[in-house]
Amino acid sequence: MPIPPVPPTEPVPVAADTWLIPNLAPGEPGTYVPVNAMLIRGAEPVVVDTGAPIHRELWLEKVFGLVDPEDVRWIFLSHDDGDHTGGLHDALALCPNATLVTNAFGTERLNLERPLPLDRLRWLEPGDAFDAGDRRLRLVLPPIFDGPTTRGLFDERTGALWAVDSFAALTTGAVHTRDELPAELYDETFKLFNSLISPWHEWLDVDRYGRHVDSVAALRPSVVASAHGPLLTGGYIDDAFARVRALAGQPRLMLPGQPSLDEFVDAAIAAAPAGLTPA
Ligand SMILES: [Fe+2]
Ligand SMILES: [Fe+2]
Repeated sequence: MPIPPVPPTEPVPVAADTWLIPNLAPGEPGTYVPVNAMLIRGAEPVVVDTGAPIHRELWLEKVFGLVDPEDVRWIFLSHDDGDHTGGLHDALALCPNATLVTNAFGTERLNLERPLPLDRLRWLEPGDAFDAGDRRLRLVLPPIFDGPTTRGLFDERTGALWAVDSFAALTTGAVHTRDELPAELYDETFKLFNSLISPWHEWLDVDRYGRHVDSVAALRPSVVASAHGPLLTGGYIDDAFARVRALAGQPRLMLPGQPSLDEFVDAAIAAAPAGLTPA
């Protein structure tokens, strides 16, 4: 089944010397799943995540249209999920001066796919930081995450927070900021995606989880960028933290099952040109 085309996207400024590297995957008709990475082009440029395998070439084009690979000094990998590691080995090969920031468990998991060069790694944990020349970048545990190796990144110079899989929501196209999204689409899909990403929220103690969310919100980010949601600024940041805080103890949302898959397959067959439908 061919993948429907998606609107083209270009890098979007996040903060000074910082860009969102967006790509899209098809969602419900008229909607798209953002699959973003980020670039901080300071004194020591930092590649933040490396996109999904289906976007590998687009990701390489966008990132290295903004920075010379020889200049990249850091590749920060938020976690080892495939939609964040699409261009990882390309980036390691193209950026010989870059150190890969990850952690021990991330390395173990990634090594099962293709061994990482151990002498190019730095293992850091939430609360640790690294110095990228003109800024300190601090690792944080985001409020919502779907893999045990996940760490977000806070730029102490610009106040930009990379929230990884937290704050995900569908978009309507090459639309990358919260105020450009229809409120209803954001409400519905924020709830769905953040629940799908962290189904464990139904077991959370409201107060204890609230304290964790508060600890991240206390960074007072100037802007929040994430892999699967819009850029957030101003009151939209507090709103997003409040939305994830409210998931604690709530029943998780369920995925569509076989009847929905049957409908999708029937619709795809009905839409296929004559002669291409299965017998
Ligand atoms: Fe993930
Ligand atoms: Fe992700």
